[in-house]
Amino acid sequence: MFESFYAKLEHLGIVPVVVLEKVEDAAPLAHALMAAGMASAEVTFRTPVAAECIAAMAAAEPDMCVGAGTVLNVEQADRAIAAGAQFIVSPGFNEDVVRHCIEHNVPVLPGTVTPTEVTAAVNLGLKVTKFFPAAQYGGLSTIKALAAPFVGHRFMPTGGVSTKNVEEYLSCPSIIACGGTWMVKPALFADGDFSEVQRIATEAMEVVAKVRG
Ligand code: 3PG
Repeated sequence: MFESFYAKLEHLGIVPVVVLEKVEDAAPLAHALMAAGMASAEVTFRTPVAAECIAAMAAAEPDMCVGAGTVLNVEQADRAIAAGAQFIVSPGFNEDVVRHCIEHNVPVLPGTVTPTEVTAAVNLGLKVTKFFPAAQYGGLSTIKALAAPFVGHRFMPTGGVSTKNVEEYLSCPSIIACGGTWMVKPALFADGDFSEVQRIATEAMEVVAKVRG
């Protein structure tokens, strides 16, 4: 299940976690990320315009893999899917959301940080989950410890991933990709200029190229 999405995620290497307050920012943000070679975005349902932003980013950059983040319930999952989200990410594990996405054949990455949560995800057929908040839950050393019993399971850590540690995270075979806000912080484009986003995203993609070849 979701094999082609997992292959895509591995290739992407980094998924920017986006918090957008204004739909007008969606298209220029999509253009800046694509210009940096960062061909995905997790648009979080932390703002009321999330679904509209998903649709706007996908329309602006049709080759971009635009998904939804911070999806906490089935209603948000439905809105994300209707807006064209290609994947769904949740900070935690909610069985209803996971089952709903599987039924709709939409790749879903629930957050799992304990053996119990990973077990629940694995038993529903998932091979990749989010690991959030990564820094607070022990980062790489916890991921490595979880990888021992959950053979072949892979994680997308987010929360505290940055320019400083992304290379170390990506070098771990149990990590399929990293997520984070560091290249898309709202303050970087508050003035409507997305060049700083593009610069930091380009720098991040250089690390992906270095680690993944
Ligand atoms: C997420 O939802 O994945 C986090 O908010 C990302 O955390 P960061 O701001 O530390 O990158």
